[in-house]
Amino acid sequence: MKKTGIYIAFFSLLFLLSSAIDSNDLFNYENQFIPDYITKDNTESNFISDEGATLGRVLFYDKMLSSNKSVACASCHLQERAFGDTARQSIGVNGLTERHSMRLINSRFGKETRFFWDRRANSLEDQTIVPIKDHLEMGFSGNNGDQGIEELIAFMSETDYYPELFDMAFGDPLISETGIQLALAQFIRSIQSFDSRFDEGYAQVGGDPLIDFPNFTNIENKGKKLYVSGFESDIVGEGFRCVQCHVLPEFSIVDEGTLSVGNNGVISVIGSPNEVDLSNNRSPSLRDVVNPDGTLNTPLMHDGSINTLGGLMAHYSTVGPAQNNPELDIRLQNGPLQIPQDEKQAVIAFLKTLTGVNVYTDEKWSDPFNEDGSLSLFDLVGFHENKHIQNVSYYPNPVINDFNIEIKNTNTEFVLSILSIDGQQILSKKIGARTKLDLRHLSSGIYVLKIKDLNSRKTFKAKFIKS
Ligand code: HEC
Ligand code: HEC
Repeated sequence: MKKTGIYIAFFSLLFLLSSAIDSNDLFNYENQFIPDYITKDNTESNFISDEGATLGRVLFYDKMLSSNKSVACASCHLQERAFGDTARQSIGVNGLTERHSMRLINSRFGKETRFFWDRRANSLEDQTIVPIKDHLEMGFSGNNGDQGIEELIAFMSETDYYPELFDMAFGDPLISETGIQLALAQFIRSIQSFDSRFDEGYAQVGGDPLIDFPNFTNIENKGKKLYVSGFESDIVGEGFRCVQCHVLPEFSIVDEGTLSVGNNGVISVIGSPNEVDLSNNRSPSLRDVVNPDGTLNTPLMHDGSINTLGGLMAHYSTVGPAQNNPELDIRLQNGPLQIPQDEKQAVIAFLKTLTGVNVYTDEKWSDPFNEDGSLSLFDLVGFHENKHIQNVSYYPNPVINDFNIEIKNTNTEFVLSILSIDGQQILSKKIGARTKLDLRHLSSGIYVLKIKDLNSRKTFKAKFIKS
């Protein structure tokens, strides 16, 4: 009986610890394993740091970043769906999106530096602020009665976490639009998926996609061959040509020259089937189109009009010049890809091998907020004594009954808080430069002492032990 109790206490402590953001124990975003055959990378100068991506994770999941506090990036980009949305149109603060939300898998690993279905953002950094400023999506447009980004920044400055997270990420508690862009882009670039059966096989054959993979079934190997059969052949050559636009081994879209693959009656403007939208020439990586459970993660294409892989193959077997699409990509102008039924099944089987496992569940890409909407921050200033407020002493440590705090500082007004290890506030009171607390009723454990200088707004943090 007793032992079980101890185990439960131990594991629940572990659980609490793991849900807090602890600057001494950040997730690994900056040194993740990347297979050596992955060579395309659209990072320009905003390299991923653990601190920056951690801030990006909080921003990505924070509903406070929308005008009615109900929508976060993650509302339309769901981890369990490869960071896409199962809905054809996603719900923003002022209505439904006009295009389908894109999956955000391996966004970093492409030659293409531009983003969105129509590549209208010049970089990922440019992209990340757009949804926040979009009237429909998150609502800080600054127009027509919407608040602007300045109001959002003022609001973020009032939270008890953003100044600390910005300080951790960029060495300055000041919140800026640029900082938001950089941190979100770092987080999105960190989302990577290289544990698929394709990766296993590709490594096994030394990176030659034309050799059969030992870990594939016959039908998967056949599908692979069909997928890459446009490989190194000329633009109007035979074969499926998938690989000419969705290039191996990243399965990212080629960086230039791709035009529309649309207009067979299904690729249109959402909600207006007669109005075709031919400006879309980017696709997310084809990795993780399918969930590990075998179902499609999201409807496909910019209008989310295709709901099955069979429908996808049907699209590519009919799209061609006959549809009178002036923007049609040259690789499809020779006529539709002639794909017999059994070959369609083989390509579908191959597409399903491009799905990983880890990206759907790894905590580093998951929601950091607690169920009540609070965020547990831990040790963000590194517990270095005197990092911000000079000369704080606290004793004894471990403490049994009386706990003394002395601050040598010209200011005289401070707020003292005691937090549990997972960031829950236990006590908070205004104090002067010297104070004595009676902690005899506090149960034993590790706690965080936090002192905020009410004049300079600077914070001191340290751990102490109650025995
Ligand atoms: C209301 C739903 C919604 C919200 C909220 C939202 N997005 Fe999106 N996201 C979309 C849609 C829809 C698209 C495609 C839009 C287009 O191409 O015109 C998209 C596209 C993207 C892309 C482009 C991917 C690529 O490969 O080109 C990125 C990156 C992205 N979103 C990141 C974010 C970030 C970061 C946030 C939060 C700041 C966010 N999104 C908030 C719906 C949303
Ligand atoms: C001419 C270049 C080109 C060729 C060839 C091509 N694609 Fe595409 N693919 C695109 C573009 C561009 C899009 C985005 C189109 C849109 O949304 O309007 C796309 C979208 C997709 C999507 C949807 C991605 C998503 O996240 O919704 C899948 C899946 C796909 N293609 C698979 C294939 C397969 C399989 C083949 C071969 C049979 C193929 N493509 C051939 C350019 C191409």
